[in-house]
Amino acid sequence: MFSEKLIQRLKNAYTVTVLTGAGISAESGVPTFRGKDGLWNKYPVEKLATIEALEKTPKLFWDFYNWRRELLATIKPNLGHYALVDIENYFEEFTLITQNVDNLHLDAGNKNILELHGNITKNRCTNCDDLTQMDPKESGIPKCRKCGAFLKPDVVLFGDPLNQNILRKAQEASSVCEVFISIGTSAEVEPAASLPFIAKGNGAFLVEINPEKTALSANADEVINLNASKALTHLTMILDRLR
Ligand code: OAD
Ligand code: ZN
Repeated sequence: MFSEKLIQRLKNAYTVTVLTGAGISAESGVPTFRGKDGLWNKYPVEKLATIEALEKTPKLFWDFYNWRRELLATIKPNLGHYALVDIENYFEEFTLITQNVDNLHLDAGNKNILELHGNITKNRCTNCDDLTQMDPKESGIPKCRKCGAFLKPDVVLFGDPLNQNILRKAQEASSVCEVFISIGTSAEVEPAASLPFIAKGNGAFLVEINPEKTALSANADEVINLNASKALTHLTMILDRLR
């Protein structure tokens, strides 16, 4: 499943960076965005995950986010998330960059996480920036407990800029790693989609874990066509043996 070349690279690696997308949470029951059962096929993105929707149709906007949060409150990390905790512990320097907003990497116990697209379990005030944990049972349109202004889920909406500080750290972690592993992402959304190329451009060995072919596959040094949980638990067994 893993080539001898990759195993040697991992054995000698000091710095490893991982990028995850919706695919790693699929086995926990979180819907992905694209593909046949993708969230964006069922719900019109331009109506829901935007600042305009928050301002013009707040009830619809919050119904959508409250529904996603309610769903997430019942969901647990899977073997793929837990394997990444072991993998983090194995390497001297490890960064987990995620496009997911579902909090499952934190739940599983990873430490050095960069949440590129934010975290859906939190709300941020549109006026004073106050950050609060949201109550998954809450319904309706929430307001800031400090200043009364409207809140926004602490996620990147369509048309929103990314947090530049987090993005800069993700680019840095991509440029210094010896092995970069892209897991469960269609690798179509920028700027996350450029991170593997930054890694490869700086000499990293580029690995992709995804049961389907993606925009990245042709550029990867090694493609593992398996579900994340299977590939990552196997990887932890290999690392155990190398230890
Ligand atoms: P996508 O839905 O675009 O892609 C999910 C990927 O996961 C696909 O390539 C699947 O083949 C793969 N996949 C499915 N099941 C898998 C499994 N068990 N193991 C491994 N891979 C599996 O999701 P993302 O690439 O994460 O942004 O999407 C990127 C961004 O687009 C999201 O963060 C979101 C969306 O718009 C925002 O909301 C800002
Ligand atoms: Zn406020």
